[in-house]
Amino acid sequence: MKLTIDDVRSRFIKHFDGTTGSVYASPGRINLIGEHTDYNNGFVFPGAVEQGMIAEIKPNGTRNVHAYSIDLKDYVEFNLDDEAGPKATWARYIYGVCREMMALGVPVEGFNTAFAGDVPLGAGMSSSAALESTYAFALNDLWGDNKIEKMELARVGQRTEHKYVGCNCGIMDQFASVHGKKGSLMRLDCRSGEFEYFPWNPKGYQLILVNSCVKHELAGSPYNERRLQCEHVAEIIAKKHPEVTSLRDANYDMLEEVKAEITADEYKRARYVIGEVVRVLNVCDALQKDDYETVGQMMYETHYGLSKEYEVSCEELDFLNEIAKEEGVTGSRIMGGGFGGCTINLVADELVDNFKKVVVEKFEAKYGKKPIVIDVVIGDGSRKLC
Ligand code: GLA
Repeated sequence: MKLTIDDVRSRFIKHFDGTTGSVYASPGRINLIGEHTDYNNGFVFPGAVEQGMIAEIKPNGTRNVHAYSIDLKDYVEFNLDDEAGPKATWARYIYGVCREMMALGVPVEGFNTAFAGDVPLGAGMSSSAALESTYAFALNDLWGDNKIEKMELARVGQRTEHKYVGCNCGIMDQFASVHGKKGSLMRLDCRSGEFEYFPWNPKGYQLILVNSCVKHELAGSPYNERRLQCEHVAEIIAKKHPEVTSLRDANYDMLEEVKAEITADEYKRARYVIGEVVRVLNVCDALQKDDYETVGQMMYETHYGLSKEYEVSCEELDFLNEIAKEEGVTGSRIMGGGFGGCTINLVADELVDNFKKVVVEKFEAKYGKKPIVIDVVIGDGSRKLC
């Protein structure tokens, strides 16, 4: 069921003093290709989805934030000037955004807020970025005269992950949530910050997510370790090739040169990233020619790399990928950070109904639970609803 303003407003009224505030929303995201390339300064190719977070916010004339999570039925209060902040992770996202906006000079004041979301949690669709972007956008509107640029709002969310939650993520999720545009994917150069909208209108194909419902949480997962491994390989390569500042600049020959100086795991991680940076560009070229077979082939290659070289897959996701192959799906791969969550599938129109049916049947037969199938609709980025 699609989340509406009323779902949030009715709870806000009930939970607080009966009055209403302003309502803001930000979406989750999909990513066509370019996984684990953002923190390696490469390219990503995400788009916002229709599902997201909605929050109602009303200044309360104090220095305290009173926050109610409708989905978790949890209530937390924190003081904006408190250095430690709340314990609950969901509240730390809001606290982190407040603190980072204050650090940018936005005179944030205390507020009452209630929020809810319809992005599945832990599905690799960036529910946390949707939450961060909602509050960054809202605080900029309420207290910042909308002076902070969108890319900086995305960085506020990213810094929140790094400093308050412990996930050293790249910029893709927050970027996509803030900048999303209905009907368009975006190709972002994560080094320069330049990006381009690509209308997503594949004739004869649809994007379908299949959520394994294996929950992933990136904080505390080997995500941060992957990032360190990549940075280490880039440093070693840079000793011979000073022009290399991140794996985005490296190639397979350079990697072979340093093979003896890095661990076998680091070698595999870097191999994946170097390949993935090129695959994003190949997909862009293929899209210009409406060549969806190539797009799909790149997606399968990404899955292979994420599973065998980057090692962020799990049995269930590999199984979903196998089913897609068996059913003749054009492209399929793990989406997002990995360790659980969804596969993203590029499916020819005539195969869609059968694929949706078969993937549920086969998965349920093996794991005793149904995966959740989601039709991708590319939606808008952060916005004020009322
Ligand atoms: C998570 C992170 C992103 C990105 C992806 C993998 O979603 O938040 O920054 O690294 O994983 O592509």
